[in-house]
Amino acid sequence: MKKLGVLTSGGDAPGMNAAIRAVVKAANHYQVEIMGIQYGFQGLIDGKIHKLTSQEVEDIADRGGTILKTSRSLEFMEEIGREKALNVLKNLEIDCLIVIGGEGSLKGAEKLHELGMKVVGIPGTIDNDLAYTDYSIGFDTTLNTVLECIGKIKDTDYSHDKTTIVEVMGRYCGDLALYSVLAGGGEIVSTPEKPLDLYSICSKLSQRINSGKNDNLVIVTERMYDLQDLQQYIEKKLNINVRTTSLGFIQRGGNASAFDRVLACKMGVKAVELLMNGESGLAVGIKDNKIIYKQLGKVNSEIADKQDNYSLLEKLLC
Ligand code: F6P
Repeated sequence: MKKLGVLTSGGDAPGMNAAIRAVVKAANHYQVEIMGIQYGFQGLIDGKIHKLTSQEVEDIADRGGTILKTSRSLEFMEEIGREKALNVLKNLEIDCLIVIGGEGSLKGAEKLHELGMKVVGIPGTIDNDLAYTDYSIGFDTTLNTVLECIGKIKDTDYSHDKTTIVEVMGRYCGDLALYSVLAGGGEIVSTPEKPLDLYSICSKLSQRINSGKNDNLVIVTERMYDLQDLQQYIEKKLNINVRTTSLGFIQRGGNASAFDRVLACKMGVKAVELLMNGESGLAVGIKDNKIIYKQLGKVNSEIADKQDNYSLLEKLLC
């Protein structure tokens, strides 16, 4: 490896900076020049690239967001955009690339690998929706943020005997909602993997109210319901007041947790090592507490088995 490029792409996730730091430090260790590409694949096409120094990344491990900035590039989705990106890399003599991002970004990484570039991906997304890895960078921090917010809402719900619906992110993956409830942050949960219809949500709420529990927190994954419709349906059916809170971007920002920082560190170093060994077309991950890697083309080809977590839920929410 002569010159390594690194970029972050898609939604930012806490811990991306810790991954950048690890990549830069490991590249320095192997005396490989390292270039930071700003604004993800779009910045690559536009040539927004500068040399990264060890000093620049010294104090970034805790910081949320990404110092390299990020984007979702439509241009890169087209073949012509990818050819442009490849030419920029060639002109700058960057022969290896590390892509930090979620599913779409890893797919983009695979496309560059198919075009002959040496590429390794690192999973960075709060959604935890990549089946090949137990955790993606950012999920743990966001889960903790969600729990902190829910805790505050619960104080008020308890004081006023209120019911609140909290909508969390996750795209089409229910992990943020599911893990929040496993961690004690809610009583009723509906996720894309185990969706509840309006009638079931009401009957669960009604059971709780009939047993004397008048403060209730319903957690739902984004994109599943129109929150206002859901609120009005429950209010009408159960004759109670309901509030809704969509946590939004609060979930994406903030200092990375120790778990995410350590995970990012391990994955960043592994990604550089793989490229040093001449590997390409791989994404690093974590399975059963071990850093693993899988072909980029297979990162999302299987459905993660979440049955264990959902059967836990049955025992907790009875
Ligand atoms: O993938 C991360 C994520 O935060 C999802 O949870 C969410 O659906 C999406 O990004 C929001 O995207 P945007 O930044 O375009 O609003």
